[in-house]
Order: sequence, then structure tokens, then C-alpha cells
Amino acid sequence: MTPLLAGAVFTARQACSDGQVKKKRGADMIVAANWKMNPALDQAAVLATALASQPFFEIKRILFVPHPYLVPMSVRLTGAPLQIGGQDCHFADHGAYTGDVSAGMLRDCGASTVLLGHSERRSAHGESSDLVAQKIKAALAQNLDVVLCVGETKAERDDKKAEQVVIDQLQASIPDNTPPTRLTIAYEPVWAIGTGAVASPDDIGAMHHIIASVLSERFGAGALPPILYGGSVNAENAGSIFAVPLVGGALVGGASLDADAFAAICTAAQLASRNEG
Ligand code: PGA
Repeated sequence: MTPLLAGAVFTARQACSDGQVKKKRGADMIVAANWKMNPALDQAAVLATALASQPFFEIKRILFVPHPYLVPMSVRLTGAPLQIGGQDCHFADHGAYTGDVSAGMLRDCGASTVLLGHSERRSAHGESSDLVAQKIKAALAQNLDVVLCVGETKAERDDKKAEQVVIDQLQASIPDNTPPTRLTIAYEPVWAIGTGAVASPDDIGAMHHIIASVLSERFGAGALPPILYGGSVNAENAGSIFAVPLVGGALVGGASLDADAFAAICTAAQLASRNEG
């Protein structure tokens, strides 16, 4: 164990008065849907209507929708207990950035939050953690909350570098002066995204512990942002994932496109919330 990790474990334990590492979930469990570049608009409308009618009042639900859907989904979900978010933003306020969207534009179109640093953007668009940090600054300046994704590739895990990769991503992606109340972390091992190969509860727990420790060093043990898990979460595995200490919810891709599957995941989150309380 590196000195940083040894210290980090100590810090996480410090957070608990009885010496045990407990679940730290913030106010509520969070279940966030990442629709990615799905579905067609007419199907999105049907899905949103189904989600709006589902009675989940004890958890926080966020829909990260394709940018052109922000306005129609915001209108359709007016008054529903769901937040809408964008899946990315540019670091600049405006300018000659063809095809990009600013944080202010997201906000003006109804978003209250934005997903940043997703591995599909890090890999397909070459986004570095430094760029992600600039985007987070832009989002915070526009009063958007941020869900920051971190996670290692299969090769990095096989090389036993997973922990250091995630620590490095956290340290480089979170800008100075970020208010912890505006930030949520989503730990998404790249090899688990869209593959059905969900990480084991032990691996999730170990990584969440490390993330909590890094965050506790940055923000203080009493101000930890929620830490979600993402990567092949579905109706069947959600309960066991939410039972893992420090897991504060899920970022859900494929299963979020099915209203029933998403509802089952939200039910599991609501139960976990009650069990903790
Ligand atoms: P998945 O995607 O649930 O389909 O694995 C998760 C994500 O990419 O956020």
C-alpha cells in the first residue's frame, strides 16, 4: 500500500466516531440515468412520462439526456421529482466552438446538473482530467451541479494500477475551490460499462473507500460528496451494489432506457436509503 493509500484509509476511518467505516450517502441515494445517444425522441417522451409517474420521493433521480432533448424533457417533466442534466459541456462561455454546448446553454435549456469526464468522452474525444477540470469550473460558474466520472480500464486493473488511476483522475479533475455540496462522483470501471461485467461488491467497496479517502482529504471528512457506482447496473444487481458501504447510488446506462428496469433500481435505492436511516 502506498503512503497515500495508507493515510487515506486512516482518514476514512476517522470520519466515523465508532471506528467503523460507514456508508456515507449525503442526504439521499441518487439514481442517475445516462441515456447517452439514445433513444429516439418519441421513445424518450414515452420513457419520461413513465418515469414522471413513478413515486420515488426518498431518493434523487437525475436524467442525463442528449442535448437536443433538454428542452422537451424539461417541459414534459415540469413538476415531476426528477432533475435533468446534460451529458457534457464546453469549458468556454461562448465562441467559435462548432458543435459544442456551453454550461450556460445547458442551464438555459433546463439542466440543473451536468455529467463530466465520462469514460466515453475521455476515450472517444481524448478528454484529459485537466480539460475536465476546466469544464467543472465552467459548470459551477453557471450554477450547475456536477457528476464527475472516474474509473480505470481493464488493462489498468490487470496492471494493478486501478487505484492510482482513479486517485490521479480525482486529483486532476476536481478544481480548487469546488464546493463539495455541488459535486457527485461516479466510479465507473471502464470494463464494466455496457458489458454486463459488473464489478464485484468487494472491488466496488475497496474503490469507494479510496475515493472517500481522497475526497475526505480534500473536503474534510464531514463534507464528502456522494459516490455512485456505474457499470452494468441493472434491476437484479442493484440491491447488492447499494448494500456496499459508501455506495451512494448508481449511474445507469443501458437499464435506464427501460422504465421498469429503472424503477426496480430506484426501488432498491429507496430501500437502501431507508435501511441506512
Ligand atoms: P451501463 O452504462 O449501465 O450501460 O453499463 C453506464 C454508464 O456508462 O454511465
